[in-house]
Amino acid sequence: MERFPVEKVSQEEADKAKREGIEILYSYEQERYFIDEGGSGVVYKLPSGYCLKIIEDRSKSKKSDMYNLGNPPLVEARFQERMSKTEFLGKTRVPIYIGTIQSEVDRLRSAIIMERLDATNLQHIINGTADIPKSFLIHNFFEDLERFVQHMHDVEEIAHCDLYARNIMVDNETSEPRIIDFGRAVNLKKIESEVRQRQLMDHDFERLDEVFKALDALQNK
Ligand SMILES: Nc1ncnc2c1ncn2[C@@H]1O[C@H](COP(=O)(O)OP(=O)(O)OP(=O)(O)O)[C@@H](O)[C@H]1O
Ligand SMILES: [Mg+2]
Repeated sequence: MERFPVEKVSQEEADKAKREGIEILYSYEQERYFIDEGGSGVVYKLPSGYCLKIIEDRSKSKKSDMYNLGNPPLVEARFQERMSKTEFLGKTRVPIYIGTIQSEVDRLRSAIIMERLDATNLQHIINGTADIPKSFLIHNFFEDLERFVQHMHDVEEIAHCDLYARNIMVDNETSEPRIIDFGRAVNLKKIESEVRQRQLMDHDFERLDEVFKALDALQNK
């Protein structure tokens, strides 16, 4: 492999190399690599078990005042990284965080590289567009999920704030819970009012309860 001393790389060359790398990653933005999408991100398969969530950074858009803004991609990424590394003794997990692309050229787009889950989104199950894995046990699933959310609040001091069915997945092999999408997560340490902190934490559990009821109704149909 050819090597060269770093001081000999001009700014121009460095920028070109960065752009090349970013372009290769964005070349996976194609129908055949598409996994799924949400309101702000589209997720594509990368080779060898990873995926790319391409996010339009609405805070930098000229129309930013028209949107209900979530976290900027780097903030979302930081929450995901923290939660994927947390020491939780149960089964619930967050996809392993690999890195973030922030292009200096195209400032309206960013992407998070992460582990690609072999899992099914609970919203698809509720909508009837996907099946529940055979070994799924609703009470075990929600018990573990609730313990993870409690751990997230108490140990990491993070509230997820978007725990709808579309952001909870079930592993296709093990039926274990997976939590995704920290696009609205909040650092509880930065919230001064204890009343507000409590509201955010209660809000997470209320969302889980709604998801439980929707799945329970589906299973009892
Ligand atoms: N690591 C992953 N592995 C497999 N599928 C994933 C992964 N991350 C996301 N997905 C799928 O892609 C969809 C969109 O991802 P995500 O929820 O992060 O996007 P979003 O636009 O922020 O969503 P929202 O509308 O909730 O704000 C998810 O609902 C899920 O089905
Ligand atoms: Mg989502």
